[in-house]
Amino acid sequence: MDEQTPKHVSESGMPVGARETDDAPVENQANEEEACARAPIGMLCELTHRCPLQCPYCSNPLDLERANTEMTTEQWQDLMRQAADLGVLQIHLSGGEPAARKDLEDIVKVAAEVGLYTNLITAAVTLTRERVEKLRDLGLDHVQISIQDVEPGNADKISGYKNGLEKKIEVAKWVKELGMPLTINAPIHRHNIKSVPKMIDFAVELGAGRIEIAHVQYYAWALLNRAALMPTREGFNEAAKYVEAARERLKGILVIDAVVPDYYAKYPKPCMGGWGRGIVNITPQGRVLPCHAAESIKGMEFDNIKDKKLAEIWLNGDAFNKYRGTSWMKEPCRSCDRKEVDYGGCRCQAFALTGDATNTDPACSLSSLHEEWANVAEKESHAPSTDFVYRRVGGAKKADTNPA
Ligand code: SF4
Ligand code: FES
Repeated sequence: MDEQTPKHVSESGMPVGARETDDAPVENQANEEEACARAPIGMLCELTHRCPLQCPYCSNPLDLERANTEMTTEQWQDLMRQAADLGVLQIHLSGGEPAARKDLEDIVKVAAEVGLYTNLITAAVTLTRERVEKLRDLGLDHVQISIQDVEPGNADKISGYKNGLEKKIEVAKWVKELGMPLTINAPIHRHNIKSVPKMIDFAVELGAGRIEIAHVQYYAWALLNRAALMPTREGFNEAAKYVEAARERLKGILVIDAVVPDYYAKYPKPCMGGWGRGIVNITPQGRVLPCHAAESIKGMEFDNIKDKKLAEIWLNGDAFNKYRGTSWMKEPCRSCDRKEVDYGGCRCQAFALTGDATNTDPACSLSSLHEEWANVAEKESHAPSTDFVYRRVGGAKKADTNPA
């Protein structure tokens, strides 16, 4: 996708256990103390990894799944029914670019029929007014459009796509004209951080109800491009100050969600709201993941929705139970009073940077690796930017750096 996966969309404040039902079909074998929700609140569906854009911070895996291996319409529709039965509330239709699937309408139709709240996360550049209208008529609830910058030339350069901003503005206007709620997603890095004030104005002008000022999270393509993307601490602080003031000023007009770059944080975020706690991710081929980047953790195996039911995988799947709750933690997390606040941070980042997913995320200042890691960010952010490695099939192989 041309943005980062919205792991912050519905991860915060997830009412664990709030979706319990009396007649859950699968017995939950997970330890009750692990606080496993009976159902995920959100399901992120990567309908395809195809995308016309090539953003260098894409959260899709480096090995993109090919079109001829994607699930069929019927398989996605069946998954929507299973999700509703399980008690999922929202589905995020994502990619790649979800509109690259000609059957997007058929999937939305079933999702709406079974009562799921549907959010389309799109690069928007290939949508037509007719298609947006049809999706709305079929029950699509919300549209989230990503932007690369509000300066057209820079937006083109970041996305590797010509005149994308113009098209995004057009689609955003249609969304509003058609009476749908709109979110703007703005992944932030050193090549667009100066535009944060203008991005906020842009969202207000388009009538968006929400903007995500989402500092890039460094895994997958973004980790590969870290030296090109890392903003300076000074630049980050300045943008953060602006965002805080804008939040006050725009109360009641625009909600501003801010995602802080881990490298400049004191404590990590509760990535995915805690592993296996509230979000499930489906890859184009149907693998069911606790996190969109979970396949980057070597040695893990993931169930496929073609072989098992969603409820069975969510409640009892090995991959979900592996880092669910807190009993897997080592020190310093194990005896930390924040362990049920941030769940030890991000497993994928811990693996990428330390080689062991059970280690404390180096984003945490209590990690023995934190200082060394934050120094790398300082150094890279002040050095001249490297060239982007653009997201494309085989693109990662061309990179000759290993930022981890
Ligand atoms: Fe969170 Fe672990 Fe750091 Fe404590 S030590 S703040 S639980 S990451
Ligand atoms: Fe996978 Fe954070 S990106 S747990």
